[in-house]
Amino acid sequence: MPVLLTSRDDATNVLRVTLNRPDVRNAFDEEVIAALTGVARDAARDPTLRAIVMAGEGPAFCAGADLAWMMKAVAYTRQDNLRDAEDLARMLDLLDSLPVPLIGRVQGAALGGGVGLVAVCDIVVAAEDTVFAFSEAKLGIIPAVISPYVMAKIGLSAARELFLTAARFDGVRARELGLVHALVPAQSLDETVDRYVREILTSAPTAMAAAKDLIKEIHGSRPAEVIAITTGRIAEQRVSEDGQEGMRAFLEKRKPRWVRPS
Ligand code: COA
Repeated sequence: MPVLLTSRDDATNVLRVTLNRPDVRNAFDEEVIAALTGVARDAARDPTLRAIVMAGEGPAFCAGADLAWMMKAVAYTRQDNLRDAEDLARMLDLLDSLPVPLIGRVQGAALGGGVGLVAVCDIVVAAEDTVFAFSEAKLGIIPAVISPYVMAKIGLSAARELFLTAARFDGVRARELGLVHALVPAQSLDETVDRYVREILTSAPTAMAAAKDLIKEIHGSRPAEVIAITTGRIAEQRVSEDGQEGMRAFLEKRKPRWVRPS
């Protein structure tokens, strides 16, 4: 069985990516990392793609790094260990930088690196009974590679608490922390994801890509430091084809016809 399932809806150009190692609760090893890296790389180059939904097969979204795979590290050289970590870092960076919206569909558990996957999503829909944890410290390791993405979402204070206790927390806390956007009964997961997808399909692809890029660029800056960036970006988007089309369509009371990003 492939460790990653992908299916693309040709009508909507939405790609669904499903982690497919339910027996180990979708823990990821080098094979999963390579497959997901490939998907993210292809997706970034695909001008027709409108959104990606990332899900996990079986009872849990993702139990983080495969501990059997990680244990092999003891026999590796420092160089091998670095390469493994860099592969994971590259995968997370590619997912984080996707030009299209990445929606996480989360159920059961998201632990360790599984929360890293949650953190690189733009929108996360989780089942109410999902458990979360940065469990690394309980295993004698640390949430290192995922930390930039996680901390951008939850902040310093919660990271200090949750990285140290490595304790489990529930969906309500995850939503309070900004890891989760919609917390719903498990049976409503798909319908909620679909609602987000429908919403996204009415926004301009170039505008969403530009908005994602803007968020990354200005995060953590003081407003006065980024005036040249924010003013430059809106000036560009206002005169862009989609900017003109979106405003004209509104004024003409019709649906906009978005250009395909190239
Ligand atoms: N790596 C490798 N195997 C894992 C795994 C991981 N991260 N997480 C779960 N598994 C395996 C278990 O060893 C078990 O294998 P077995 O059937 O051969 O015994 C199988 O997945 C099912 O796990 P189990 O604990 O029985 O399932 P559950 O549904 O009761 O609980 C979890 C699921 C995810 C809550 C639980 O497995 C867990 O806490 N896993 C540890 C996750 C973790 O701390 N990850 C951080 C890594 S940095």
